[in-house]
Amino acid sequence: MKSLITDVLTKSAGLPKDEVERLLEIPPSSELGDYAFPCFALSKQLKKSPSDIARELVTKISSNLDDIRHFSDVKAAGPYVNFFMNKSEVARKVVSEVLKLKEKYGREAENKGKTIVMDLSSPNIAKPFGIGHLRSTIIGESVCRTHEFLGGKAVRINYLGDWGTQFGKLIFGFKKWGSMEELKKDPIVHLLKIYVEANKEDYEDGGRAYFRKLEEGDKECLKLWKLFRELSLKEFDKIYSLLGSKFDLVSGESFYNKAAKEAVNELKKKNLLVESEDALIVDLKNEGLGAVLIQKKDGAALYVTRDIAAAIDRHKKFKADILMYEVGQEQALHFKQLFRVLELMGFFWAKNCVHIKHGLYLDSDGKKFATRKGKVVFMSDITDETISLAKNEIKSRFPELKNKELEERAKKIGMAAIIYGDLKNYRENDMVFDLDRFIKFEGNTGPYLQYSYARASSILRKAGDGKAKKSKGKLIISNIEKSEFALIKFIDSFKDIVSKAHNSLDPSIIANYSYDLAKSFNDFYQECQVIGSDCEGFRLSLVGAFRIVMKNSLWLLGIQAIEEM
Ligand code: ARG
Repeated sequence: MKSLITDVLTKSAGLPKDEVERLLEIPPSSELGDYAFPCFALSKQLKKSPSDIARELVTKISSNLDDIRHFSDVKAAGPYVNFFMNKSEVARKVVSEVLKLKEKYGREAENKGKTIVMDLSSPNIAKPFGIGHLRSTIIGESVCRTHEFLGGKAVRINYLGDWGTQFGKLIFGFKKWGSMEELKKDPIVHLLKIYVEANKEDYEDGGRAYFRKLEEGDKECLKLWKLFRELSLKEFDKIYSLLGSKFDLVSGESFYNKAAKEAVNELKKKNLLVESEDALIVDLKNEGLGAVLIQKKDGAALYVTRDIAAAIDRHKKFKADILMYEVGQEQALHFKQLFRVLELMGFFWAKNCVHIKHGLYLDSDGKKFATRKGKVVFMSDITDETISLAKNEIKSRFPELKNKELEERAKKIGMAAIIYGDLKNYRENDMVFDLDRFIKFEGNTGPYLQYSYARASSILRKAGDGKAKKSKGKLIISNIEKSEFALIKFIDSFKDIVSKAHNSLDPSIIANYSYDLAKSFNDFYQECQVIGSDCEGFRLSLVGAFRIVMKNSLWLLGIQAIEEM
């Protein structure tokens, strides 16, 4: 719809397209039309009053009959040109386009040939999968999907925190207090307990000695480390399987052990390192970025050193146009330092690296999130609780549902609750994690979106495939109800929304849109009879169009659509 107006204004009135797009508004009330073009900005340039300009524009536009087929009226109102759409023309155009393109509706090719490499999830082995890692998995995935929806390629890398002095401590501790049996039963819990103990000051030397052994490739140490890594990953995979997360590469800091040493040499060669208290740093103090510790006294490389090596590798291996990192806000300085060091090393692409930040999860009392069981949050507690809450909701609606179906549905609904509960907030804001609210089938929740989708599917099922198909050819509509047109407008704005979300790397734009779309569909369904009405053909097509756009929106968020709910 917007494009119709942009076309008219560029063609009939000779205004530049970007400017029209930027200025076009949706008026606060429908009495003022469906769109309004404000003329203030042109006033200076044309040396005329905005209302004179508005009047002249209307004359120009109206003289071109072909262009105004889609409008019922174009009027000047003070400094604005108000556009009233010819609702049935527009409805026909929008609905038939969606039904023609199906899942391809809204897909564009603007990112064709463009590769992003996304660092997402990236939990630390031998530790619980954190809330931050959950946010990273969810947000990173949605940004990737949006990029792909617009024709680009996304490489997903899970970069495990699997190297560093802490593993020396862990091996030392495991040899002292560990039990193979407990390790295999509940690896993360067992390793966490050992880690807490081994972190005490008394054991510092022991930890350091074992890390040195590990770095030197000691067989026994490596074997234990490998086992810790494997068992941790198995735990993490449970979460990934629930969320449906897939990675192109499960990498980790350990992959860049050797390359980090090469990076140190490279930095030396480029004269970027200075000695400070026996360690090596890149001094960014006069840029306000502090000292970047690259190599410790004992020769050990650091988190940032490995990240330097990993970035260089990613750029080369995947011919990446943009390296993205979906990581918590608290690492903002780290990424600023990383990108700046890469730039100083002469990598032109460092300018295209992006840290996509997220805020914290908070409890309803505003404190940092913790589970009922204690200070450490175990993701499995959260997912178990979510799924069991979902089961209760489903059971109260479908007491007869078979167990297997109940399980399946509860998983999909539970994950939708978590994913949407997260994505509806602007990612950089801290957000309140409120499961009881997230899981509700009504209100601004993931399950509500799934429910609306399922409802559309059920209407189409009831009408029977044949009917829906037959009606496709004749989208004849005489009178469009208000709620019908509101829904059409939402469907029509899908492309704009995707492009906005993509440009600002902000999935909350799609999430909130999906909610508005679902709400508008439910308003329509309340007001307008579909099956058996005079307009059955058109309305079934509209339900079909809604269903397609909703499915695409859910896909962009990483939420599974459910046919029956
Ligand atoms: N493992 C890190 C953590 O949990 C996150 C890693 C993010 N990715 C990166 N390339 N630094 O804090």
